[in-house]
Amino acid sequence: MARPVTILDLQKMRDEGRPITMVTAYDYPTAKMADEAGVDLILVGDTLGMVVLGYDSTLPVTVEDMIHHGRAVVRGAKHAHVVIDMPFGSYQGGWRQAMKNATRIMKETGAGSVKLEGGQRSAETVRHLVEAGIPVMGHIGLTPQSVNQTGGFKVQGKTPRDAVHLINDAKALADAGAYAIVLELVPTALTHMITARVKVPTIGIGAGPFASGQVQVWHDILGMYDDLNPKHARKFANAGEAIRGAVREYVEQVRAGQFPTAAESFYMDERALELIRRMTPSADQDMSEAAQVLAELEEIRADSQP
Ligand code: KIV
Repeated sequence: MARPVTILDLQKMRDEGRPITMVTAYDYPTAKMADEAGVDLILVGDTLGMVVLGYDSTLPVTVEDMIHHGRAVVRGAKHAHVVIDMPFGSYQGGWRQAMKNATRIMKETGAGSVKLEGGQRSAETVRHLVEAGIPVMGHIGLTPQSVNQTGGFKVQGKTPRDAVHLINDAKALADAGAYAIVLELVPTALTHMITARVKVPTIGIGAGPFASGQVQVWHDILGMYDDLNPKHARKFANAGEAIRGAVREYVEQVRAGQFPTAAESFYMDERALELIRRMTPSADQDMSEAAQVLAELEEIRADSQP
């Protein structure tokens, strides 16, 4: 089995110009499928809150949620590096709070690193975590945990002022020791500039083709979540429709008496069956037979001993 991907491997891929692939996962079977398909990184994103738990933002997600789902993903990923999002409220209180929660996430899940949002404002926190031996992935551009400040899921860095701010955010994270930086909803040209100005990998989502790698949300690329339809998310399959179709067929076949068939059922010894019938008489049958039946059952048991 291939060894797990490390942050050094990711840096090497960036240096050699080999695109890095990352996808989200929130449970064991999904992680296993993503891993078997060969992704380099699996992100247990706090998008969990929206695509799995049904909230309308990522804000309600807790450290406990991330640990619960993170552990399942780590069990399913044998090769990919697993990175877990620090949820809203788990690090915004400063580096000490971040240290406590990041340490818990790392210890209790066995993941390879954590991710947190924010550029210059999070740099001090990133520095402390990295100094403590916790690899950190940054996340700038559209940062969904600040959706109440940014006023929605909008492309970031479109004015010269905002673009320079984003470039400085990326530099601050790289200087603080972040091993990679997610760029979410950033114009393609700006992604190109940021990627050329930092030495660590950039991972884009809605940031065009010039990042060192790409990340997408599992449910978006498989057509399993239609509450939002982000422009950047190509549907590589329509699994949602396939699943709905399969479940419809199951319901129809049960209702039509076509499922289960003999081939999908289990059978027992005819003699035992007859004894059971006698042991469980209907109300007007003689219950005195029961002792005799028990004796016969014992006999069957003895006969079937090796
Ligand atoms: O939570 C998440 O899934 C993310 C990706 C959108 C990058 O942060």
